[in-house]
Amino acid sequence: MIKTENRYFQPGFRQNMEEKELKNLVIEGEIPDWLEGDLIRNGPGIVNVDKPMQHWFDGLAMLHKFSISKGEVSYRSRFINCEAYQAAQESGKISYSDFATDPCRSIFQKLQTVFDPKPKITDSAKVNIGKIGDKAFALGEPLMQIQFDPETLESLGVFHYEKAPGSGINTAHPHQDPHEVYNLVVQFGAINHYKIYSMLEGVKELASIPVLEPAYLHSFGMSERYFIIAEFPLVVQSLKLLFRFRPFIENFKWKKNRGTRFLIIDRETGKLKTTIKTEAFFSFHHVNAFEVDNQLVVDLAAYKDASIIDHYYHNRLSSTEEQLPFGRMERFIFDLDKSKLKERKVLSEACIELPHIDYQSYHGNKDYRYIYGCGINPENRNEFYNQLVKIDVHTGQHSTWYQEGTYPGEAVFIPNPDRKSEDDGLLLSVVLDGKQGNSFLLILDSKTMQEQARVHLPHSILFGYHGAFFEKN
Ligand SMILES: [Fe+2]
Repeated sequence: MIKTENRYFQPGFRQNMEEKELKNLVIEGEIPDWLEGDLIRNGPGIVNVDKPMQHWFDGLAMLHKFSISKGEVSYRSRFINCEAYQAAQESGKISYSDFATDPCRSIFQKLQTVFDPKPKITDSAKVNIGKIGDKAFALGEPLMQIQFDPETLESLGVFHYEKAPGSGINTAHPHQDPHEVYNLVVQFGAINHYKIYSMLEGVKELASIPVLEPAYLHSFGMSERYFIIAEFPLVVQSLKLLFRFRPFIENFKWKKNRGTRFLIIDRETGKLKTTIKTEAFFSFHHVNAFEVDNQLVVDLAAYKDASIIDHYYHNRLSSTEEQLPFGRMERFIFDLDKSKLKERKVLSEACIELPHIDYQSYHGNKDYRYIYGCGINPENRNEFYNQLVKIDVHTGQHSTWYQEGTYPGEAVFIPNPDRKSEDDGLLLSVVLDGKQGNSFLLILDSKTMQEQARVHLPHSILFGYHGAFFEKN
């Protein structure tokens, strides 16, 4: 029989999940005793309501918590209890617009949208987990974030940008320094703006840059002195978003000839210092940025275009014939005196997505060396992300963890408290075992990429996006 559907497709993308609470999970190997805390991950939990969702970035959010203490592990999962979740529960229908899936609407409802252009955007914040001050948040792209209790995973309330009127999106990848938390908002209106906000003690606008056709931006960069917006030419006429007949992302168009514009904003004044154009490319994730004298270095996981978004539609992810485009770590070096691109180089040939560094200690640090992420094994190219990769930015070398038939999610780095080097620690990743049909928590030695332990779940977890580790005090 010819295989036409990937074995990870149903358990990884198509099955609704249930809330669970499990103690004393089965562990293979040994968990180092210094590892104490909770890995909390975010991602879709419900992907079928009255119809299946269309895209990897659609779904109603579920939080997963692996609590590690004294060498033992327990697990808990909870849906985010938001309006979109409640409406789906009550009506049995998708009721809010998602990234690439809209509710079914009658012609009457479509007409109504023209007269009352306020599409209900999902508040199911499923992309990332953030610690803002002493609070824990589920982060998504719509302009609201859901606070939750990191102990019980119960939803506690909504964080709004009170001073950001109109509609828009923000990134699920805020930056932080010892004093503040910062995020980029793309505001849609009569005049569209890119805005940077600080958000620790209430919301404060730090920068506001008008833009005719705003881009889809999943993250932004920050160095010691600058905010960096890499504006890829995947852009939208925002009226199309207001009178929305198509799902959110389908309103954006790839306009290669625009190139990519780097908007470099002075953090002190909030003013645009310079704009530097490069060839067109696309990226979801900025990874690091730092300054060396008059040069600004920006590292991101880059694609030649935005077709990766189309590849994440379920109908393509299910097919054994498809190949995901490789994302590659690239470095852009800008000469700020001359306002021009000095050098663009590929840091590693390895495919990488969901990139992760030791942000706390090495973000903004010019000596940083290691990036961890998911990748695709070239021997098994027609699959979803099927290995973990560690890139050495200094040498361009990479090492991997690969086990045929398994599909790891984002690798979260936790430093050894007595570490001697940047990569001395552990990587935690939730992996789907395509053969067994369940998921496990993989614990890797981040120095050697060798397996330390795996913690088995009796069920599978849908492919999610990002998470965070909450250390036990
Ligand atoms: Fe992301």
